[in-house]
Amino acid sequence: MSETRRSALTLLLGAAAAVGTGAIGYGVMRIFGERGKSVQGAFDLSDLAPGELQRFSVSDRPFAVFHAPGDGLLAYYLTCTRAGCALQMSDDNTSWACPCDEARFALDGEPISGPVPRKLDRVPVRFDGMVLMAPSALGPVEAVT
Ligand code: FES
Repeated sequence: MSETRRSALTLLLGAAAAVGTGAIGYGVMRIFGERGKSVQGAFDLSDLAPGELQRFSVSDRPFAVFHAPGDGLLAYYLTCTRAGCALQMSDDNTSWACPCDEARFALDGEPISGPVPRKLDRVPVRFDGMVLMAPSALGPVEAVT
């Protein structure tokens, strides 16, 4: 094999290796998060229709992901923003009720009534399309059935 052909082959193999390494690196980045932020849990929520929600817990703290029609997925803690009481689903399944002072929150986390200072606190997760990506710093996340 001539020197020129050997050099061309070496260049071609090097380029192929670089492309392969880049593809593997991209895949790892997709699994472990962007810019090196590690992800400890990923949950596919593609079956969650607009208007539906899925309950989760993180370190025994409950939260919900709500598929807000037109707004996509929202994740918020299921504790009242006034004094931290645990919220319960209303009897008609249309809002969250606080048993302490009878506040109510809409399924998108906005306050409806009661002495609450703000909407429900968001959970620091991110969504990749319909996949919930939970950062390692958040702690172990579990879906609640
Ligand atoms: S703790 Fe929820 S309204 Fe008071």
